Amino acid sequence: MKRILILLFSLLSLSVMAQDVTLRQDNIDEVLSQLSLEEKATLVVGAGYKSMLAGFLGFRVPVPGAAGMTQAVPRLGIPAIVLSDGPAGVRIEPRRRGSKETFYCTGFPIGSLLSSTWNTELVEKVGAAIGHEALEYGVDVLLAPGMNIQRNPLCGRNFEYFSEDPLLSGKTAAAYVRGVQSQGVGTSVKHFAANNQETNRFWNDSQVADEPLREIYLRNFEIAVRESQPWTVMASYNRLNGVHTQEDPWLLTDVLRKEWGFEGLVMTDWTGKRNTAAQIAAGCDLMEPGNKSQTKELVKKVRSGELSEASLDLCVRRVLELVVKTPTFKGYKPSLKPHLEADAAVAREAAEEGIVLLKNAGGTLPMAAGTTVALFGVGSYQLLAGGTGSGHVHRPYVVNLDEGLAAEGMQVEAALSGLYRRHIEKNPPKKTLTSGMLGSPGSPEMPLSRTTVEKAAEGAGMALVTLSRQTGEGGDRHLEDDFLLTNAEKRMLLDVSEVFHGQGKRVVVVLNVGGVVETASWKHLADAIVLAWQPGQEGGNALARILSGSVCPSGRLPVTFPADYFHLPSSANFPYDYSGPGSMAGGSAKYNDVKNVGYTVYEEGMDVGYRFFDKPGAPAVSFPFGFGLSYTTFEVSGPVYAGDQVSVTVTNIGKVAGKEVVIVKDPVLRAFGKTRLLQPGESQTLNLIIQDYETRTD
Ligand code: BGC
Repeated sequence: MKRILILLFSLLSLSVMAQDVTLRQDNIDEVLSQLSLEEKATLVVGAGYKSMLAGFLGFRVPVPGAAGMTQAVPRLGIPAIVLSDGPAGVRIEPRRRGSKETFYCTGFPIGSLLSSTWNTELVEKVGAAIGHEALEYGVDVLLAPGMNIQRNPLCGRNFEYFSEDPLLSGKTAAAYVRGVQSQGVGTSVKHFAANNQETNRFWNDSQVADEPLREIYLRNFEIAVRESQPWTVMASYNRLNGVHTQEDPWLLTDVLRKEWGFEGLVMTDWTGKRNTAAQIAAGCDLMEPGNKSQTKELVKKVRSGELSEASLDLCVRRVLELVVKTPTFKGYKPSLKPHLEADAAVAREAAEEGIVLLKNAGGTLPMAAGTTVALFGVGSYQLLAGGTGSGHVHRPYVVNLDEGLAAEGMQVEAALSGLYRRHIEKNPPKKTLTSGMLGSPGSPEMPLSRTTVEKAAEGAGMALVTLSRQTGEGGDRHLEDDFLLTNAEKRMLLDVSEVFHGQGKRVVVVLNVGGVVETASWKHLADAIVLAWQPGQEGGNALARILSGSVCPSGRLPVTFPADYFHLPSSANFPYDYSGPGSMAGGSAKYNDVKNVGYTVYEEGMDVGYRFFDKPGAPAVSFPFGFGLSYTTFEVSGPVYAGDQVSVTVTNIGKVAGKEVVIVKDPVLRAFGKTRLLQPGESQTLNLIIQDYETRTD
């Protein structure tokens, strides 16, 4: 009897103890020991599509429009945390069931523009503003930055990425991560790795030799990991040298963790299911968005001995380590009221620094005060602030160029504006099933007669032509009518240039694009060319302030503009105009049909971007990597090397205040920096550190 009583007593106290265990930052081992196998398998599998579809289907979730969540284990005090896209701002639904309020997020400039600033402090400031919005809207981890190398201009997601160069890409990403994480919100650098095209994206095999893989396609991730320790990394959809990155122990454990010292969690990219046990064994800790079959598979495979429980425990531990860092775990109550006004100012500042002046013959820009400008191109009245897909942001507004010019006191030719406005009213952006959620491309270009151009010239002292491009995830760009101008655009440029030049008036072209376009064949038609990229919601203001001279341009190209697409060595192995299996162009492909087919050989090896075009005998480019003009002139002395330091002194010898980018390349990019705003006559010495990332090949 006494023994039975003792047994009962200990069972009772054990169950009381078990109930007492609640997750804290310092008891992860204990919590791990209390989890059942089923609970462990639940924690490494996300909560499904509910939050992503909530705005659409009205589910009640903490953050409608968030891309995903983890699952909770309430009995141990483990909450579900919220994961939401970036990168150009927080992507959540602006409307919630049961609320009349709107919850917009600031639309920041795209990745290619951020890297064009060459200003990591500014990128960090952008990151902090985005992180603050994430925090105040209840998001724990921002699924950004996107940082794949811009291997080929036709990649449909280049707009989300930073550069053709790994140092610029890695440093920019690290700054973005530091900014977001300074707010107590995590990031997920993506898509790890060699995810440089969208065609057949779920299955494509990127076949990359060791040297370019290490020196280019992994190096930028390495820099971001070592210099900012992101809370999470997102493993890509594609395969790398035959193995799905999400199932690759070499990539996710040996390189990422053991070699680079990554301390965080790896999650999958969304959609689709791989071999879940293989993912866990490789060190891929969290399946997103997750479905129940994955949990079942894990339980079964641990029971049958196909997967060791120790591997699962390791992933669960990483999930718990992530959870305890989050605002949700810490009980933060989101205000739903971020500082949208202050953040809009940051978005504008970034846009102003990342816009690149590509051509400025005879001081065409800045525009003389009082000039009336004839604005051609739909994009002049409907600026494309960002791309579509998961990179789309529900922003409160977009400032158009005509509005920005008006704010700067510039006159816009009214009759032409009226025509464009009516055209846009009649041809609004196409609404599709997903456009509310993922954004939609702009209105089609307006057909333009020669007479319209002539009439506009009568009332204007200058012409400005905006050329616009937009892409999003799931498809690559086409060569015709996308990289190359359309026939209508060529006609418009020819007519505008003939008519305006015929009257001694200047022509400015604004490129409102997400990626590189062909410029060599038409750039002689323009007196000035301004690369605005997709500059975020404040784009029209930023652009107008550059055009008017209120801001001196200081952006530089993060990517080469080749004279001809086929000069790019990667053009031999990039599936442009692909519409075969796996293409999402028609939106109807069945991905399983193409399982295990499709590959891209990175035959060009190290010949990516300027690494190729700088070689003797390589074809001339239209605009080189690092190029960008200013309204002032700088004298640069140096570089002077001292150990791992290099110093460069910049003096503004021109007439207006401006910032200068310093690029140290020998022959590849070694260091870069940006001066503060230098007044005429003022100097600044930048001391830059040259980081040499050793490549280990063992
Ligand atoms: C994209 C990711 C994104 C995820 C969640 C995927 O299709 O590739 O970049 O974070 O969806 O929206």
